[in-house]
Amino acid sequence: MTRVRVATSLDREDVREIHLCAFPEGEKQIVSTLAVNLLSEETTPKTISLIAEADGVVVGHIAFSPVTINSNKSWKGYILAPLGVKPEYQKRQIGSKLIESGIERLSRMGVNVLFVYGDPKYYGKFGFNADLASKYSPPYELQYPFGWQAIILNEGVFTESTVIITCVDPLKDAALW
Ligand SMILES: CC(C)(COP(=O)(O)OP(=O)(O)OC[C@H]1O[C@@H](n2cnc3c(N)ncnc32)[C@H](O)[C@@H]1OP(=O)(O)O)[C@@H](O)C(=O)NCCC(=O)NCCS
Repeated sequence: MTRVRVATSLDREDVREIHLCAFPEGEKQIVSTLAVNLLSEETTPKTISLIAEADGVVVGHIAFSPVTINSNKSWKGYILAPLGVKPEYQKRQIGSKLIESGIERLSRMGVNVLFVYGDPKYYGKFGFNADLASKYSPPYELQYPFGWQAIILNEGVFTESTVIITCVDPLKDAALW
């Protein structure tokens, strides 16, 4: 049975391990460091890390951290990063459960827009799309611009012109984008 719960600092080594084994050689160090750093990132509104457990074993992790725009202080944005599931537990809907649980929590918090930088073939299924994301510039130049996507969780005031988003410190590394 799979259970999704909020991660704590006690999960640090499990979180590191998940991303070290889920991501390929060239990305695993930087992504696992990001995941661990986000676990202890104190932000307002809060940075959320969720864990998936299968039969009591930690098998997946996802993080959501707040992003801001200068032009509208009441607008609430978040970015999903990173997401990883241990290879031997993949294709069992664990990644989907983590995304859906996060979306549910953020929706209840009144978040307007959730961003993600990843494979559109995977994230498209959850409603993420590039059209919406194109109104918001990521903080760094993207290596794969087609991966920049967003989903509306709560309608709000949206700007007509393109705005630049600002992210939390652990994501301020051009190599992640
Ligand atoms: C992406 C990842 C989190 C998905 O986790 P998961 O638990 O296997 O996902 P789910 O079981 O909910 O969904 C699996 C489905 O997505 C598909 N899928 C997985 N990765 C995909 C991708 N990159 N592109 C398209 N489809 C993908 C699978 O084929 C499967 O399809 P099916 O249900 O029709 O068989 C996992 O494969 C992983 O950790 N990958 C390595 C790290 C990574 O790439 N993270 C995302 C970075 S943005």
